[in-house]
Amino acid sequence: MDILVVGGGGREHAICALLSQSQRAGKIYCAPGNAGIAQVAECVDIGVFDFDALTAFALEKSVGLAVIGPDDPLAAGIVDAFEEKGIPVFGPRRNAAEIEGSKAFMKDLLKKYNIPTAAYETFDDYDAALAYLRAQGAPIVVKTDGLAAGKGVTVAQTLEEAEKALHDAMVGGSFGDAGSTVVIEEFMAGEEMSILAFVDGETVRAMPAAQDHKPVYDGDKGPNTGGMGTYSPLPHIDPAIIERAVEEIVKPTAKALVDEGRPFTGVLFAGLMIEADGTPRTVEFNARFGDPETQVVLPRLSSDLLEIFLAAVNGRLADVDIRWSDDAAVCVVLASEGYPASYPKGRVITGIAEAEAGGDARVFHAGTARNAAGELVTAGGRVLGVVGRGAGIAQAREAAYAAAERIAFAGAHKRSDIAAKALAPRR
Ligand code: AMP
Ligand code: GLY
Repeated sequence: MDILVVGGGGREHAICALLSQSQRAGKIYCAPGNAGIAQVAECVDIGVFDFDALTAFALEKSVGLAVIGPDDPLAAGIVDAFEEKGIPVFGPRRNAAEIEGSKAFMKDLLKKYNIPTAAYETFDDYDAALAYLRAQGAPIVVKTDGLAAGKGVTVAQTLEEAEKALHDAMVGGSFGDAGSTVVIEEFMAGEEMSILAFVDGETVRAMPAAQDHKPVYDGDKGPNTGGMGTYSPLPHIDPAIIERAVEEIVKPTAKALVDEGRPFTGVLFAGLMIEADGTPRTVEFNARFGDPETQVVLPRLSSDLLEIFLAAVNGRLADVDIRWSDDAAVCVVLASEGYPASYPKGRVITGIAEAEAGGDARVFHAGTARNAAGELVTAGGRVLGVVGRGAGIAQAREAAYAAAERIAFAGAHKRSDIAAKALAPRR
């Protein structure tokens, strides 16, 4: 069966790499893809929002399945567009993807179904929002309602910071329409983790938990990014806490979406805060695979990814075989100088073959391209995800960093403390 994967980052490279190992996979196309994806799939130069061209391509090639990677086209209804043309597609429809596309929708849903999350209020009036902010005091969290490339959230330690964030969003228009509605939320203290799950209606098959590192610098300093590194599993977290999060948060949310007439098919991704007493609460939901969570979770899958996608699309997810290996994976992101603000492109990358030569590391491309001379060059903020494997986190981490050291491009930046937390004693 031929497959079309939509997207062009590290997540899509990991998805294409796994699909290429499937027994039943024929040709894999990826739109638009990147220079690394081109090694495992045929890249097609169509943008992720060009639904007409994407569906026309899928029909022309008679693909048996489309798989959608990124959040924005999901929020814009790409799955509905494929379904209208009768093309099987793995991902949530627009009305289910709203769980990521609108924080107000997500928070209202969780409140209605008593699913644990921070207390909040939603505002579209600036004066009312400001009065509420002042009454609550700091620390407090201000979030724009719509998608804002991960930059619409301010965790404010002082009231002054919170007031500035509110003003920027609602009066200054920093986030355009995404900021005209704002969610003001109680600050939750604790440790974050990500649980991704294959979902088809009420059936939830959770993947092993992962942890991301969002701030750009060591010690969680600096502005938030799309994610500077991940690891899985989480040996320092009691498996009972992870199980509790699946039972008390992920499963009830999938059921709530069904009850609301918005059944979810695809990957539901819960961002969770584990509080000091071990209670998990929801920070956010995403309607897709995480990036770079996928780069550490999918390589640990020992079952056939295509069979899982097809089972979900055909309502058979409850019956499909899903097994995971016991080993560990650590992903270290190599980013461009300046990221997450503006960054240069076109810098020549060397050392990937050397990084992979040892056999215990794999490099997923996030933002890469070929220049006119055919050289591999940087083409994004996050450039590469270097994934190390090993029997435990310590070995996987060593493998990832040893491989990352072999790769070079001018201005490359990485965090040096990815997965350090996992080496602490179990809580
Ligand atoms: P979000 O885009 O909602 O995931 O928020 C981005 C990041 O902000 C999260 O990964 C958390 O680190 C932080 N954050 C969001 N909401 C809260 C909250 N209520 N309390 C503490 N931290 C939060
Ligand atoms: N790594 C966080 C995300 O994919 O949203």
